[in-house]
Amino acid sequence: MPEVAARAHLEKLPSLVTAALAEAGVEPGELDRIGVTRGPGLVGCLLIGVGMARGLAAGWRRPVAGVNHLWGHIYAALLTEASLEPPLLALVVSGAHSDLVWMRGHGSFEVLGRTRDDAAGEAFDKAARMLRLGYPGGPALDRLARSGDAGRQRLPRPSLPGLEYSFSGLKTALLYRLRDLGEAVTDEVRADLAAAFERSVVESLLEKLSQALAEREVAEVVVCGGVAANTLLRRRAAEVVAAAGARLTMPSLALCTDNGAMIAAAAHHAPRAELEVDPGLGW
Ligand code: KG4
Ligand code: ZN
Repeated sequence: MPEVAARAHLEKLPSLVTAALAEAGVEPGELDRIGVTRGPGLVGCLLIGVGMARGLAAGWRRPVAGVNHLWGHIYAALLTEASLEPPLLALVVSGAHSDLVWMRGHGSFEVLGRTRDDAAGEAFDKAARMLRLGYPGGPALDRLARSGDAGRQRLPRPSLPGLEYSFSGLKTALLYRLRDLGEAVTDEVRADLAAAFERSVVESLLEKLSQALAEREVAEVVVCGGVAANTLLRRRAAEVVAAAGARLTMPSLALCTDNGAMIAAAAHHAPRAELEVDPGLGW
């Protein structure tokens, strides 16, 4: 509900900024700059954020930098590991994106592969709804999968040529399986299905990551975005990247899902102070 979301931004942002400054013990005059998300996202929310940042910048006489939300997810990894620097290969997995990205330097990104249909987070959320787990479903499906056995209810593992992803077929397979099982869907079966679904998504994500690692010289790998909070993805990504002889950095759990710190980090390195709102902005 875009209008409700925009109104909530308007209501909550002023007190949030005051509380963040108080908690950090920082005066506005001490700020290097003000960072704000300019896209991608809901246009109403972006307009309120950028408008607020402009206002604060004028009032406090501080510079302001608009940054891309997706850049922020990668910068969350730089906040977690201080020695990390580009060039790096990033797998950005969120509610709207499943992108394999080559980051050459600060502000320089090349998308190597993306999803053709659903993003990984979106797939988790839709599967969670089918399994009656509520929203956002990703964390709930993660928890349920921990008590399931991924080998008992096999689901297909999507695989497209090149570095592209697709999760809509897997989602449909789960839908049909639930329909076929009907009354036989016990809590145990739901846990097995959650585990099988999770395994298919995670192995598909990592298959393309491995492929990208084999195709180029890569020393640093980042797996980030909300889905990077997933327990199985964290464990398997560590194994896959170690096997390729590279170093993996994943943001700490608190920095995986959307947060302000990652936008501050991106703004710190932003090459330009772009403030134009762009809801459909890719990279
Ligand atoms: O990056 P993010 O916070 O927001 C967007 O930019 O989209 O990602 C949110 C997504 C949601 O789809 C949510 O279900 C998923 O990340 N997510 C997870 C987990 N925690 C969050 N998916 C799987 N396992 C998790 N533990
Ligand atoms: Zn995000």
